Amino acid sequence: MKKIWLMVLLTVSATWFFAGISVGTEAAGMKAPEAEIIIEGEKKSARFSHPVHLNLDVACGQCHHGSDHQPLTDKDIAVMENNMQLSCASCHNSEFADPKLQTPKAAFHARCKECHKQGVDGKQGPTKCTGCHVK
Ligand code: HEC
Ligand code: HEC
Ligand code: HEC
Ligand code: HEC
Repeated sequence: MKKIWLMVLLTVSATWFFAGISVGTEAAGMKAPEAEIIIEGEKKSARFSHPVHLNLDVACGQCHHGSDHQPLTDKDIAVMENNMQLSCASCHNSEFADPKLQTPKAAFHARCKECHKQGVDGKQGPTKCTGCHVK
């Protein structure tokens, strides 16, 4: 009987111990999603895959920046509470200072299409509308 209780106690404390470790690492943990995301527009949406782009060895800050336009690193993003600050339209909307960057369309086309035209290490991205846009 004593042995069983000892086993139970050991199992319970081991579970707490490991649970403690995993909670500790998940707390600071916002990462680039593995799955393709759909960027919703008013009329049309576009698709975007983090893994495809991260495989090109581009840094998070190539696309993500803060209100001071400083590039964000994976460490900056990891400690964010939620993804609101990463939403391009949260800044690039009708209240944005520069009139050329007041719509998500303008901000996205300037970033996405320009790089696709230039390419990265000789690899180019799609420049046709249907390369990015889905119905
Ligand atoms: C490199 C990717 C890419 C290409 C190529 C591209 N777009 Fe876009 N476009 C986007 C993204 C991302 C958005 C922002 C999300 C959205 O609104 O769909 C956007 C937004 C738009 C919007 C605003 C849609 C809305 O519902 O608010 C229009 C209109 C648009 N694009 C038209 C075009 C046309 C026309 C072409 C071809 C000449 C084109 N785009 C090519 C990525 C692209
Ligand atoms: C080539 C451009 C690009 C790069 C590089 C990039 N991202 Fe993103 N990321 C985006 C776009 C676009 C969105 C969607 C923003 C929106 O909806 O307005 C996004 C959204 C996110 C989100 C929110 C996900 C969601 O489901 O809403 C996270 C988290 C994120 N990125 C993390 C990262 C991290 C970490 C890195 C670097 C390791 C990174 N991204 C690199 C373009 C990029
Ligand atoms: C927290 C606010 C904020 C967010 C979120 C944000 N931006 Fe910006 N963005 C700025 C500011 C500020 C500038 C600088 C404008 C200037 O100097 O005129 C800028 C400039 C730009 C420019 C023009 C300069 C350049 O770097 O080429 C593009 C394109 C752009 N943003 C695209 C994006 C895209 C795409 C996203 C989402 C992945 C995004 N922005 C998210 C604030 C933001
Ligand atoms: C730093 C340069 C760069 C930026 C910024 C960038 N791309 Fe790309 N993208 C590429 C390159 C290069 C490829 C081709 C990758 C390959 O052939 O392996 C590509 C491929 C793609 C593809 C086709 C592959 C797939 O996932 O099916 C889509 C769609 C795409 N990008 C959408 C976007 C959108 C939307 C944005 C803006 C939110 C964006 N990209 C921003 C460089 C970029």
